[in-house]
Amino acid sequence: MKELSALEKHPPADTEIIGRRVIILDRIDSTNACASEMAGRGRADEGTVIIADVQTGGRGRFGHAWFAPPGGSLLMSVVLTPEIAAERLPAVTAVGALAVTETVRGDFGLDALVRWPNDAVINGLKFAGVLARAERFGRPGQCFILGIGLNVNVERSQFPPEFSSSATSLKIETGADVSRESVARGLFRRIDVWYGRLREGRFDEIERMLRTRSSLTGRTVTLEHGGERHTGKVIDISLAEGIRLEMPDRTARWFPESVTTLLAK
Ligand code: BTN
Repeated sequence: MKELSALEKHPPADTEIIGRRVIILDRIDSTNACASEMAGRGRADEGTVIIADVQTGGRGRFGHAWFAPPGGSLLMSVVLTPEIAAERLPAVTAVGALAVTETVRGDFGLDALVRWPNDAVINGLKFAGVLARAERFGRPGQCFILGIGLNVNVERSQFPPEFSSSATSLKIETGADVSRESVARGLFRRIDVWYGRLREGRFDEIERMLRTRSSLTGRTVTLEHGGERHTGKVIDISLAEGIRLEMPDRTARWFPESVTTLLAK
C-alpha cells in the first residue's frame, strides 16, 4: 500500500493528461463506480486516476464480478473526456488494452497480446481486463471511465479453481515480485500516448495496432451472440464492426463487440 501512496504524493511528471491527479484508496466497492460518481459531481477532472488496494464489488464485462486478492493487483480507473461520441467506446477499451500490453512488453519483455475485446493475455492466459464505460452521455458530467484490473503479484494458488488454468500474473510470468507502483507509472505513460492518439481522431492507428496485437486472429473461437453460439475462424477485428469470423460454410460475418461474448478461445 505504501508503494501505491507514492503515486499520490508524486504524480507522474512524464504524462500530459493521465495521472494529473492520483487518488489512492485502501478499499472501495469499485474504482469505476467511484470515478464515475466523482466525475458526475464535478469532483474529478480529465486524467484523474483512482487506484484501490482492495475492491469489494469490482466489476467486469456484462456485470461479472472481477476477482482480485487484496494487495496483489493494480485496480485503477481513469476519467476521460474526449470529444467523441459514446459509440466510440470500443476505441477507449482498445486504448486501455493496448496500453496494458505495451507496458508489459516494454517493461517486462513478455509477449503480451490483446484478446478481443478487453483481455490482455500472455500465452493465452489472462493477466488483465479492461472495462470502459460511457457515462451520462448528453447530460452534465458526461465522460468515459477507463477501468483496468491487472494481476501483478497474484500467486497461482490464489486464483479460484475456475480461473486457475486460464489466468496468470506478472509475478507468475517473471518469477519475481513486481512493484505495483512501477507498473502503474508505466501504464500511465502508455495510456497517455494512446489516449493522445484517440483525442486526435487517429482511430485507424488504434485499430491497426489492435490487429497487430490480436491473440485471436487465425484461431477458431466459439462465441455467443443473440442467444446463439457460433464457431468460426477469426479473420479480422475492427473498432466499429467487432470481430469477423469465417464460418464453416466459408461465409464471413461480423459480430459486434457490445453484444458478443467469447466462449471457447
Ligand atoms: C473484464 O475482464 O471483464 C474487465 C475487468 C475490469 C476490472 C477493473 S478493476 C478496476 C476497475 N473497477 C472495476 O470495478 N472494474 C475495473
